[in-house]
Amino acid sequence: MYAALNSLGFLGLDSFVVSVEVDIANGMPNFDIVGLPDAAVREAKDRVRSAIKNTGFAFPVSHITVNLAPADIKKVGPLYDLPIAVAILKASGQMAGELDRFAFIGELSLSGALHPVTGVLPMVSKAKEHGFEAVFLPAQNAAEASVVDGMSVYPVESLEQLTGHLSGAKRVEAAAPYRFEAVRAPLSLDFSEVKGQAQAKRALEIAAAGAHNILLIGPPGSGKSMLAKRLPSILPPMTFEEAMETTKIHSIAGMVTPERPIVSVRPFRSPHHTVSPAGLTGGGSNPKPGEVSLAHNGVLFLDELPEFPRATMEVLRQPMEDARVTISRAQCRLTYPCSVMLVAAMNPCPCGYYGSPTRRCGCSEAAVGRYLGRVSGPLLDRLDLHIEVLPVEFDHLTAKGKEEPSEAIRKRVERARTFQLERYRGSGVSCNARLTPSLLEKVCVMSDDASRLLKNAFQNLGLSARAYDRILKVSRTIADMEQSGQIKAAHIAEAVRYRSLDRKYWSRG
Ligand SMILES: Nc1ncnc2c1ncn2[C@@H]1O[C@H](COP(=O)(O)OP(=O)(O)O)[C@@H](O)[C@H]1O
Ligand SMILES: [Mg+2]
Repeated sequence: MYAALNSLGFLGLDSFVVSVEVDIANGMPNFDIVGLPDAAVREAKDRVRSAIKNTGFAFPVSHITVNLAPADIKKVGPLYDLPIAVAILKASGQMAGELDRFAFIGELSLSGALHPVTGVLPMVSKAKEHGFEAVFLPAQNAAEASVVDGMSVYPVESLEQLTGHLSGAKRVEAAAPYRFEAVRAPLSLDFSEVKGQAQAKRALEIAAAGAHNILLIGPPGSGKSMLAKRLPSILPPMTFEEAMETTKIHSIAGMVTPERPIVSVRPFRSPHHTVSPAGLTGGGSNPKPGEVSLAHNGVLFLDELPEFPRATMEVLRQPMEDARVTISRAQCRLTYPCSVMLVAAMNPCPCGYYGSPTRRCGCSEAAVGRYLGRVSGPLLDRLDLHIEVLPVEFDHLTAKGKEEPSEAIRKRVERARTFQLERYRGSGVSCNARLTPSLLEKVCVMSDDASRLLKNAFQNLGLSARAYDRILKVSRTIADMEQSGQIKAAHIAEAVRYRSLDRKYWSRG
C-alpha cells in the first residue's frame, strides 16, 4: 500500500517541494526513512509512531518505508513528522480523501500535538509559487505563513485536529491574511535626545541617505553608541519586498513569533565582540544565518571595533563587498543575502583620549599604534565616512533649545532616496552605496572645479582607488540631498573631509 504527500524544505533562502512517499509492505515490522534525512528527520520515527497511537489510530505492524524526494537534497529538521504521519494513515487505509493540492509541515510531539518549525515563510512562499491550494502547519507558525498573499493557511494544533478536518468531521478555520504595514523604527530612540553633535548628525544623515557605511571614533562617553543606535530612526521604511526577504532570514533562524510575524522595522543588530566568525556571517553544521544576514536591509553595528578579533573582522570583508554570504558544505552550498549598512564605533586608543582636545591621553605612541592597528585596513577602507565624535560642551548639554526630531531628518533622507531611485529605475540598483563601477562613472557627473578638487585630493592625500570610488559615491549622495544632478566642488569637499581621519589616526607621523 502506497501514499504520497507534499511537503517543503529549504536551503538558505531557496525552498523546494518535497514529496513524502510511504510504502507499507508485508514482512518483518520495520520503519525506514530514506532520501538524505538528517538526524532530526530520522528521529521522526519515534515521534510519528507515538503520535499516531496517541491520536487513537493503529500504527501498522508491517514493513514501512518512507522516501523523501528529491533524494539528492538534504532534508533538515523535524518538519516532516506531520506529512509522514498523515501519509502512513493514508497508506494504511485509515484516512481517505484527495490530498494532492495540499502541503504539510510540522513537528509532532509524542502526544500528537504540533510544535512550530523554522523556515515557514520561505517554504510557504514556495508553496504558493508551486500552485498548492492550501498549507497545513503548526498553529504557532500560522501568523508567519499568512504573510504570503493568496495562500490558504490552516493552523493546526494536533494530528487529531487535522484528521478531523480532512475527514470533514470538524473543520479548521483558515488563518486570516496578514496585512503588511511598514513600521518606522520605534520612537523610543530619537535623535532629538542627542544634544548638539551637529556634525555627527549630518554625517549619519548622509550615510542614511545613500546607505553608506560609517565609522564613529572618539573618547568614551562622547555619545558614539547613543548616535549609532538612533540611525534606524532616520532610515526609510522597508518596502514589502525588503520586509519579506528579511523575515525569511529571521524565519530560518527561528526568530519569528506569532506576535511579530513579519519584520517590518529595519533590523539593528549589535553583536558583542565575542561573537564567533560563524555567528557573525553564518554557518554551523546545520547552517544558520549569522548576524550580518539577520541585519539584512538594516544596520549591523560593531561597537568597540578594535575589541573584535582580527579573524572576526576578516570574515566580514567578502559579505560586505557582495552583499551576500555563501556557505559551502559537503552536501550543499547556500547563500544568505546581507545588504547592510555597517556602522562601527571605537575609542582611538586604550585610554580613549588620544587626540582629545579636553583630556590628556596617557597611552604611549606605540600603544596607540597597536590599538588602531587592530582595525583591519581593508575593513577600514570599506567604511565610507569616518567621523570624530567629541563630547558636547557643557553649554550644549544643558541648553534648553529643541533638537531636531528623527522624523524631520528621515523626511530628507527619504527625499534623497527617491531622487536616487528615479535615477536608477530599471538598473537593479537601489541606492548610491550599491552603485556598480560602470554605473558609477555614468551617474557621477562632476563640475569642472569638482573634478579638479577630487584630483588634487587624490594626489595630495595619497588615496587608494577604493577610497576614490567611495568618495565619489558619498559626494553623489550629498548632491542627491540637494536634488542636484551634478556633483559640485562643495559636495566633493565634504565627502573628502569624511576620509581625512585616516591621517590623524592611522597615518600618524
Ligand atoms: N550629545 C549628547 N546628548 C545627550 N546625552 C549625551 C550626549 N552625549 C553623551 N550623552 C550621554 O552620555 C551617555 C554615554 O554615551 P555613549 O553613547 O555610551 O558614549 P560612547 O559610546 O561614546 O562611549 C549617553 O548614554 C548619554 O546619556
Ligand atoms: Mg559606546
